[in-house]
Amino acid sequence: MEFRILGRFEVVDAGRDVTPPRPKQRALLALLLLRAGERVATDEAAEALWDGRPPPSARNAIQGHVKALRQLLGRERIETRDGGYVLQLQEDELDLHLFERLLTSARGTHAHAQAELLGRALALFRGAPLEDFRYDAFAAADAARIDELRLLALEARIDADLELGRHEQVVPELERLVHEAPLRERLWGQLMLALYRSGRQADALDAYRRARRELVDELGLEPGRDLQQLERRILSQAPELDRPRGRAPGALIPTPPTPLLGRERELAEARRLLLRDEIRLVTLTGPGGTGKTRLALEVARTAAARFPGGAFFASLASLDDAELVLPTLAHAVGIAEGGDAPLLESLAARLAERPALVVLDNVEHVAAAAALLSELLAAAPA
Ligand SMILES: Nc1ncnc2c1ncn2[C@@H]1O[C@H](COP(=O)(O)OP(=O)(O)O)[C@@H](O)[C@H]1O
Ligand SMILES: [Mg+2]
Repeated sequence: MEFRILGRFEVVDAGRDVTPPRPKQRALLALLLLRAGERVATDEAAEALWDGRPPPSARNAIQGHVKALRQLLGRERIETRDGGYVLQLQEDELDLHLFERLLTSARGTHAHAQAELLGRALALFRGAPLEDFRYDAFAAADAARIDELRLLALEARIDADLELGRHEQVVPELERLVHEAPLRERLWGQLMLALYRSGRQADALDAYRRARRELVDELGLEPGRDLQQLERRILSQAPELDRPRGRAPGALIPTPPTPLLGRERELAEARRLLLRDEIRLVTLTGPGGTGKTRLALEVARTAAARFPGGAFFASLASLDDAELVLPTLAHAVGIAEGGDAPLLESLAARLAERPALVVLDNVEHVAAAAALLSELLAAAPA
């Protein structure tokens, strides 16, 4: 079942709309969802549903609403526990939880994966969070928290886009965002940088003046140090404002801290296969812990010099998402530019330029990787 609160309230069960019809039922369900897995006392629910002034009949009314909700969502969904109710949720049934999980996965990853994960997280919004309840006291704090998380996610996604060279694409979106959140200095800074990198230095400086006017007029404050420093750098056309050009270094083959023992035969065999022109994919299989990763690294290190396009390493072990295979590969190979071409094409083009070696570890972990690999091998001619 899908419970959606990032916009108008909706409950969908296998494609069927099962949103409770009555406003009080919707509010009760929203309250239970926000506190999923925890007990909500009947009195507390009454306070929430009647905004602090529950009538004497409130307890009975709530029992009736719970009964109706159970008919709609299934008996086991709402459990009665010591004078209160607990709603049971499975992972990702609530769009808010999926949103938060995607934000956590995006943290600390590379720009390609960040742009992908955060873009997906932000696409979950269909309107203002908790749209139906944001002026009810019980939902106000959560609505404010989700608004803030959404802005942070937006800013992080735009940072990733800027890192990927998508400065021109983000300008219109940033113009709209600074209009909606004019006191958000980070957005103004991103707009200034995006304009500057698009060759629009005068517009970038004008954005600074607009930001300053908002802050002075609204808060009586000068822009913060970061924004002031950015303005000075734009005035002096400081080289550090430019995105690093050319190739990102990519993920080179890591060197294990201990020497390799034995394996001469396997090493020679794998190397021989790898260096044959007509062989483009060598797979090492075996039970966990038998030394596949280790052998692959050793083969790659000793054969790297034969690949003028470079030798790279990408581990798929920590990916819990098939959509991330391509961005992870692109990152490993050092594709920095966002560009307009689809990522698969940029990656294939890069690999087609000059023979390169890519070690993919733990491919079995993400089943979809195999399909992508054959696409890639077809797209990048030998
Ligand atoms: N030939 C070897 N010489 C030295 N250490 C090895 C050798 N083969 C494997 N190891 C070590 O054994 C551990 C497990 O090997 P690993 O390559 O990670 O296995 P797998 O990838 O098959 O699960 C690692 O710590 C690795 O460094
Ligand atoms: Mg391994």
